[in-house]
Amino acid sequence: MGNKNSSHKLKFKLFNNNNNNNNNNDNKDNKQQSNPVIKEDIIVINDDDKDLKFYFNSDNNIHRQHNHHFLKKYLFQCNISSPVNENLTKGGAVLDIGCGPATFLLEVAGQYPNSKFFGIDIEPIFPKEIKPCNLEFQLADMFQGLPFPDNMFDLVHLETILFSITPSQLDLLIDEMVRVTKPSGFIEFVETHMTCRCRGVEEKFGQLLRGFELVANSYGADSDMVFKLPQLLNKNPNIGDYNIITKPLVLGKNGGKLGIIIQDVFNWFKHSSESFVNDACKQLNITKEEYDQLVSDAFNEVNQTYPEVGFIRIYGQKKYLIN
Ligand SMILES: C[S@@+](CC[C@H](N)C(=O)[O-])C[C@H]1O[C@@H](n2cnc3c(N)ncnc32)[C@H](O)[C@@H]1O
Repeated sequence: MGNKNSSHKLKFKLFNNNNNNNNNNDNKDNKQQSNPVIKEDIIVINDDDKDLKFYFNSDNNIHRQHNHHFLKKYLFQCNISSPVNENLTKGGAVLDIGCGPATFLLEVAGQYPNSKFFGIDIEPIFPKEIKPCNLEFQLADMFQGLPFPDNMFDLVHLETILFSITPSQLDLLIDEMVRVTKPSGFIEFVETHMTCRCRGVEEKFGQLLRGFELVANSYGADSDMVFKLPQLLNKNPNIGDYNIITKPLVLGKNGGKLGIIIQDVFNWFKHSSESFVNDACKQLNITKEEYDQLVSDAFNEVNQTYPEVGFIRIYGQKKYLIN
């Protein structure tokens, strides 16, 4: 897996300042202008980095979600980007919406023993018995209103969900997230994007991603929703400044160790549900056999090319005095 002393330098930039300025200008009549802070980093990854070994073991979707989480923690060098460390160290509260197997919550509950952590999900895949005592789960549908009082949380967190919800659902969800956040608390989004730079460049991989996008669209969702999030945050009168941190990666072996790890996450296409495969076949007008061939060709192609995918964290602060 590469030369012991070699390293990869990755320059991170997805949003450019012009785009974000445009977003702000588009919305300047709706509320006082927010000033998104765009961060670009260079991370140097040593090929013999021991921490990364963890990511190579996965053979089902829950393991894949755990891997996905630890990859992001590594890239962002933390679990939470919002500046809530002081409050959570003293004792605060955090909500994770659509928590899945709760990898994020299990980690942060251990990190901040004086704080309380809550996870909701529509599927009972969170741990029911073996969990820290400052962590609770509820089976709940995030679109039926969040089952918590106003102003309860220092941080409300939403990860890897935006691609499956509609713009109007997201609008309402942001209102609910803001409602349950304390004044001066934060809402934070963490998402993967996998469409923009690949589309049209790598033929087979682009076709596979197009299938994903068409399936999302057929349910009224938008696989590029993460790019519209800044505009939605700008529109919300109760959110002040927000920050965007982006981490692009090259997928596959040309992206080094991280590229191989994220390819494992993208192997989801090989193990996705029957209903997704049926929908993708319908949208792409291909048979199940042709879908399997497309996935196999796409992953072969990935290793001959340099498709870029990205991770994005966006966090915004609830205003102290709300409108
Ligand atoms: C891709 S998983 C992400 C899980 C977790 N946030 C993570 O990053 O590992 C999306 C999660 O959202 C949950 N979900 C989908 N629709 C939901 C809804 N209406 N209400 C609550 N949770 C929902 C799913 O059950 C699933 O666990």
